[in-house]
Amino acid sequence: MKKPQIKTALPGPAAKALIDVDRKHVSPSYTRGYPLVAEKAKGLWITDPDGNVFLDFTAGIAVCATGHCHPRVVAAIKKQADRLLHMSGTDFYYTSQIRLAEKLACLVPGDCDSRVYFGNSGAEAVEAAFKLARWYTKRELNIAFFGAFHGRTMGALSLTASKVIQKKHYNPLIPGITHIPYAYCYRCPYNVCYPSCGLECVRWVEESLFRTTVPPEEVAAIFVEPIQGEGGYIVPPPEFHQRLHAVAKKYGILYVADEVQAGMGRTGKMFAMQHFGVTPDIIALAKGIASGMPLGAMVAHSDIMVWEAGSHASTFGGNPVSCSAALATIELLEGGLIRNATERGAQLMKGLRDLQQSRECMGDVRGKGLMVGVELVRERNTKQPAPDWRNTLVQNAFKRGLLLLGCGESTVRFCPALTVSSDEIDLCLSIFADALDEVLA
Ligand SMILES: Cc1ncc(COP(=O)(O)O)c(C=O)c1O
Repeated sequence: MKKPQIKTALPGPAAKALIDVDRKHVSPSYTRGYPLVAEKAKGLWITDPDGNVFLDFTAGIAVCATGHCHPRVVAAIKKQADRLLHMSGTDFYYTSQIRLAEKLACLVPGDCDSRVYFGNSGAEAVEAAFKLARWYTKRELNIAFFGAFHGRTMGALSLTASKVIQKKHYNPLIPGITHIPYAYCYRCPYNVCYPSCGLECVRWVEESLFRTTVPPEEVAAIFVEPIQGEGGYIVPPPEFHQRLHAVAKKYGILYVADEVQAGMGRTGKMFAMQHFGVTPDIIALAKGIASGMPLGAMVAHSDIMVWEAGSHASTFGGNPVSCSAALATIELLEGGLIRNATERGAQLMKGLRDLQQSRECMGDVRGKGLMVGVELVRERNTKQPAPDWRNTLVQNAFKRGLLLLGCGESTVRFCPALTVSSDEIDLCLSIFADALDEVLA
C-alpha cells in the first residue's frame, strides 16, 4: 500500500527556497498553517519539490472533489483548451457554459426551471446571491449566522462572521445584516439541549428577533450554510433548516443556501441541503464544482432570477475551460463518487468514533459523508476548547505526511477527495491517532 514518504526535514531545501521568494513577493495576508509546497499531485497524493510525498485530506480546501488531476477532468480541460479558451459568457454564447447551466438547473432540487449566474469563486457566487436577493425583493435587510464564512469580497464579507481578523480595518461594511446564532448543539448558544429544546434557535428568530429589532417584511434573505464549514464543520439538527425555511417563507424572505463547501457530493448527496429536505430559493456553489478550476455558480428559480440585462456580470465568470471541467466533474460525481463519499465517510466517522473512546480530548466527532470534523477539548466534561492542541496536531500530522486543516476554534477537519479509498481512510486514521497521541504525550 502507498504511504507518505518524508525524505527531508520540512520544508526541504527546494521548498524552502521557494517559500523564501514567496515571503518576499506574495501577499502576506494568506494563512499558511504549515510549509507545504505542492509540485505535482495525483488522486490524494501530493509530491513536493524535494520529493516528499503527502496524503492529502484537505483536497485544496474541499475543492478537488475528483482527486488531484483526475484523468477524465484533465482530458476535458485539454480538449476545451484546444478549441476555445475564452469568449466572455456575459457578452457572447458558447457551448460549455450553456450545457453546464442546463445541467445545474436540473440537478438542484426543484422542477428543472432554474437559471444560473456564473462567477469565478465562492465569494462571487455569494455576492451574486446577495445582489439578486436585493434586486428581487427590493428589501434592504439580511440575516446570516455567527460562525458563517461566505467569502471576502465586501458583500460576502459583510455576511461572514467567522474570524474578526477577516473584518478588521474593513469597516464600514454593508449595513442591515443581522448575525444570529447557528444550531451548534455541542455548544448551544441558548444553553439548552436538543431535542428537548424544541429548536429554541429557530423559535427565537420569530418570537424575539422579529418582534424586537428586525422587521421581517424588510428582510431580503437568510444566508445559511447547510452545514457550517469554516465555522467548525457543524451539522445542525435534522429539522433545523425545515423549521427556519418555514419561518422565512411565512414572511417572503428568500432562503439562500451557501453550498460552496458542503455541496457537489461531498456530504453524500449532490447538495447538502438535500439531507434536510429543503428546496432553497437560491444556491451558491463553487469549490468542488470544477475539480480545481476556478468557477462559482449561483442558481435560482427562473421566477426569482429575473434581473435585467446589465444588472450583474463578470468577464471571466463561467470560463469555457472551467465549465468543461465542471461537466466532467459532475459526470464523475453522478457515476459513483457521491456513493463513495457516503461509504468512505461512514468508515472515517466510525474510525474516529473508535479513537474517541480512548481519547478524552476528542470532544465531538461530527459530519456527513466526507465533511467530517473532530472538535478537540481539554476535558469531555468542561468542553474547554483546545486550539493549541488542534494546531499542534495538524503540524504533527504534516511532519508524518498527512495533510489536515483546522476550522472553527479547535476543530480539525477531514475533507479528502471523493475518490478516497478504504486503505487511504485507514492510513489517515492511523497517522491521525499517532499525531494526536504525540500532542498528549
Ligand atoms: C461556505 C463558503 N462560502 C464561500 C466561501 C468563499 O469561497 P472563495 O474562497 O472561493 O471565495 C467559502 C470558502 O471557504 C466557503 O466555505
